[in-house]
Amino acid sequence: MTTVPADVLHPPRTSLLSVADLGAEGIARVLRLSDHFVEIGRRPIPKVPALRGRTVATVFVEPSTRTRLSFETAARRLSADVVSFTPDTSSLGKGESLRDTVQTVAAMGVDCFVVRHASAGVPAQVARWTSRSVVNAGDGWHEHPTQALLDCATIRQALAERAGLRVADTGVELFDGLRVAVVGDVAHSRVARSNVLALGALGARVTLVAPGSLLPGSLAGWPVHGVTADLDAVLGEIDVCYVLRLQTERGAGAFVPSLREYTAGYGLTARRVARMAGDAIVMHPGPMVRGVEIADDVADLPRTVVLRQVANGVAVRMAVLFLLLGSDEQLASDELGAGAIHGGSAGARGSAHAEKRGAGRG
Ligand code: NCD
Repeated sequence: MTTVPADVLHPPRTSLLSVADLGAEGIARVLRLSDHFVEIGRRPIPKVPALRGRTVATVFVEPSTRTRLSFETAARRLSADVVSFTPDTSSLGKGESLRDTVQTVAAMGVDCFVVRHASAGVPAQVARWTSRSVVNAGDGWHEHPTQALLDCATIRQALAERAGLRVADTGVELFDGLRVAVVGDVAHSRVARSNVLALGALGARVTLVAPGSLLPGSLAGWPVHGVTADLDAVLGEIDVCYVLRLQTERGAGAFVPSLREYTAGYGLTARRVARMAGDAIVMHPGPMVRGVEIADDVADLPRTVVLRQVANGVAVRMAVLFLLLGSDEQLASDELGAGAIHGGSAGARGSAHAEKRGAGRG
């Protein structure tokens, strides 16, 4: 009997490890596709059969609320099966190596691993151990590509509204020259890095606002427009204020004199928001620590789009999973209309025909 390694039963798939791999064109494609999933999310039954028969495994070797639930919701709304494991609920807790665990789960026929880990590079390592798709759901201080994509989707929505346009009629040209301040613990933030890479690719002008002790040792490879330690100096000149959490679990507390001084210099208070343009938005990846990086009342302002970011996270992750796991026929028809997403009939979604391929500048 010939033994066929279980892992070769499915063709190798591509993975999403860094948002930089997408380029402007890839980001634009994810955003266009997300529009369909936003619409599906508003339906009474927000579910489509697009990935029926596929299985997505979430492997979270670091705590998470929104990212894991968001990926699992996204997979289920595409009718994929979901298996989920954490060190507490798997043999990882008994000392099995991550490699053995991944290969064991792959042998069961999983199509995609969604991986979060406290160490940078683990999702890329997993992608070398298996031919299945791997999505980086946050690795150490390195990257969080789907967070950047959902943030771009949220910014695009806000900019479309500001311009009185339908979101679906806009492309990534909206990002050209957009002024974004990324504020706080940049050094320890995978969210900051992925956002800077994505926004930079789309032509936005990103300014990092942080004390020197919370900036990366080198900004080589960070496409930023400027760096400053003075938050008050930039507030009047930005379209987006992106607030980061102080990553105390990564030792960030040791890089600031005290929480009180950090908040005094970098906390987004109502007084600071009052200096921003009326239509400038406030973003935060969550979890927010109210009273530290963002004041309680600022967290609840209409211009603070945190819950929109969360809602868009599901649609964007549906788009990513569909792009990685959809069949070639489904993806080909995605370029023409949304029939593949909706189970084979293009139905009333003809507006997708108007989408231009490669709306990005990349
Ligand atoms: C972030 C993360 O874990 O990287 N949260 C998230 O995924 N939305 C940011 C953070 O923990 O501060």
